[in-house]
Amino acid sequence: MRIFLDTASVEEIREFVDLIDGITTNPTLLAQAAKPFREAIKEICDMVEGPVSVEVTALDAEGMISEARELARIADNVVIKIPMGTEGIRAVRALEAEGIPTNVTLVFSPAQALWAAKAGASYVSPFVGRIDDRAGDGMELISQILLIYENYGFKTEIIVASVRHVRHVVEAALLGAHIATVPPAVAKKLFHHPLTDEGIKRFLADWEKVPR
Ligand code: G3P
Repeated sequence: MRIFLDTASVEEIREFVDLIDGITTNPTLLAQAAKPFREAIKEICDMVEGPVSVEVTALDAEGMISEARELARIADNVVIKIPMGTEGIRAVRALEAEGIPTNVTLVFSPAQALWAAKAGASYVSPFVGRIDDRAGDGMELISQILLIYENYGFKTEIIVASVRHVRHVVEAALLGAHIATVPPAVAKKLFHHPLTDEGIKRFLADWEKVPR
């Protein structure tokens, strides 16, 4: 499974840039980065080899397409994040036909994920955390999408998004999701276990007693 970082902060990306497989941003994350938008995207794309998702803000297909064409010119690894909806799906069809990769975002149902795949989206982003926040089952959505995509051989890759904790990542991996995009705080936790820290401490203490 590939791990993307869900952030627009250059400092946070720098910490993991040699380990992660891509980046996802959204307007909220870009607002937190507090830098001129294009400058921030260009800087991130130059740092990261993998795909960098950048979201359009237009609400009609035509507007999304022209915004996407402009964003795609920033760097070769830009992936256009398109909000789910009839206009979004129209834009995805057009952009993928032009060779501009898309990531259908704000997906909360298997039917929406089916439309994204039918339109030929490169990626789909189901938001598991926001579903769990409302007492739903985000991981059930992932397993339904995986089954639908397998039934028809769709090539669209699933980015498990809105990740809140390590368990989301582990469950996504157990189900066989292609990618999880994780906030930096969760990315750090993926490496750690208290028994690892304790083990290192004990080995180092014992190493001091080894005759040299
Ligand atoms: O980037 C999309 C998604 O990961 C947002 O997560 O935490 O705002 O639900 P969150």
